Amino acid sequence: EKSLTAQILHTYETRLFPSADSIEVKRTFIEKFATILVTEFPGWEVDIHVFGSSVNGLGTSRSDVDICLTTEHRELEDIFLLNKVLRKHNMRTYCIPRARVPIVKIWDPELRIASDINVNNTIALHNTRMLQTFVAVDGRVRPFVLAIKHWTKCRDINDAAFGGTLSSYTWVNLAIHFLQTRDPPILPVLHPRAHSLNAEKCMALGEVDLSFNDNIGELREFGRANLESLGFLLYAFFRTYAYEFDYRTQVVSLRNGCYLTKAQKGWDTGRPSRIFCIEEPFSTWLNLGHSANTIAVEGIRREFQRA
Ligand code: CTP
Ligand code: MG
Repeated sequence: EKSLTAQILHTYETRLFPSADSIEVKRTFIEKFATILVTEFPGWEVDIHVFGSSVNGLGTSRSDVDICLTTEHRELEDIFLLNKVLRKHNMRTYCIPRARVPIVKIWDPELRIASDINVNNTIALHNTRMLQTFVAVDGRVRPFVLAIKHWTKCRDINDAAFGGTLSSYTWVNLAIHFLQTRDPPILPVLHPRAHSLNAEKCMALGEVDLSFNDNIGELREFGRANLESLGFLLYAFFRTYAYEFDYRTQVVSLRNGCYLTKAQKGWDTGRPSRIFCIEEPFSTWLNLGHSANTIAVEGIRREFQRA
C-alpha cells in the first residue's frame, strides 16, 4: 500500500501535474484562436470560455483545450463555418456535426495542441465548476483522479467518440462517485436531494437544474475523518469495478452520491447500450456510459480485473 501510494505520487509529480510549458502553450493557443475570431468575424461579439480539464484541476500536460464560444450570432452554431475559417489559418480540423453537442476538433500543427470547440453549449461550464469544487475539497482528489485518467489512457479505454469506450469526463464521474461512497466519505454530495424539475420535463424543455453547493470554504476538509491512502483507494477502486459493482442492475449516481438501480431510473428495459450506467449529474436522463457497448464493457471490466 505504501509503495503504491509512493508510485502514484511520483507519477503525479513527474508526469501528470501539468508543466509550466504546457500551460504557456495553452495560453498561446487561446490567444491565437481569439485573434483568428477577431480577424474573421470583425465586430461580432463572441466570448471564449475555456472549460474541461484545462481549468477544472484535472488536466495534464497532454490534455486538450476545451472551448465553448457564446454569441448571439446563431449562424456560428453551424460548425462548418468555424471549420472553414480555421482551415484558412492552417489548423487541421474535423467536424462532428451530429453529436449531442456538435463540435469542431482542432489540431494546431504549429503549437502541437488539440482543441474541441462548441458554440453556445454552456452546460459544460457548470459541470466544470462542479469538478473544480470537488478538487478543492480534499487533497487526494487530484492525484487520485489523474492516476485513473492516466491508467485509462495507457490501457486505451478513454475514447468515447472513436474508440467506443468512455470519455475522460465519464471516468472522472466514476472516480468522484467512488470517493463519495467511501466510509467515511471523502467527498460530499453537492446537489440538492431532489431535482427541482422532473427529469422528463427537463429533457422535453431542454432545461436543467444547475444548482449545487459550491461553497468551498464550508466544504474544505469534508473528508478529514477518512484516513485511506491513495494506494489503498486506487486498489479499492479497481476491486469495486472488477468484482463488486453489479453491472446488470446498478447505476452510478454522483448527483445522489450513491448507487441507484436501473429499475428506479427506468433504464432496465430497452436499449442494450445501457449496459454500464453512469448518470450525468445535471442532465440526469443521460447515461454517460452509452458510448460503450456490451463488448467494450466486457473489455473494460477485464481491465479492472487485470489492474
Ligand atoms: N463533457 C460533458 N459531457 C460529456 C463529455 C464531456 O459535459 N459526455 C464536458 C465536461 O465539462 C468535461 C469537458 O466536456 O469536463 C471535457 O471533456 P473531456 O475532454 O472528456 O474531459 P477532460 O476532463 O477535458 O479530459 P482530458 O484531459 O482527457 O481532455
Ligand atoms: Mg478535454
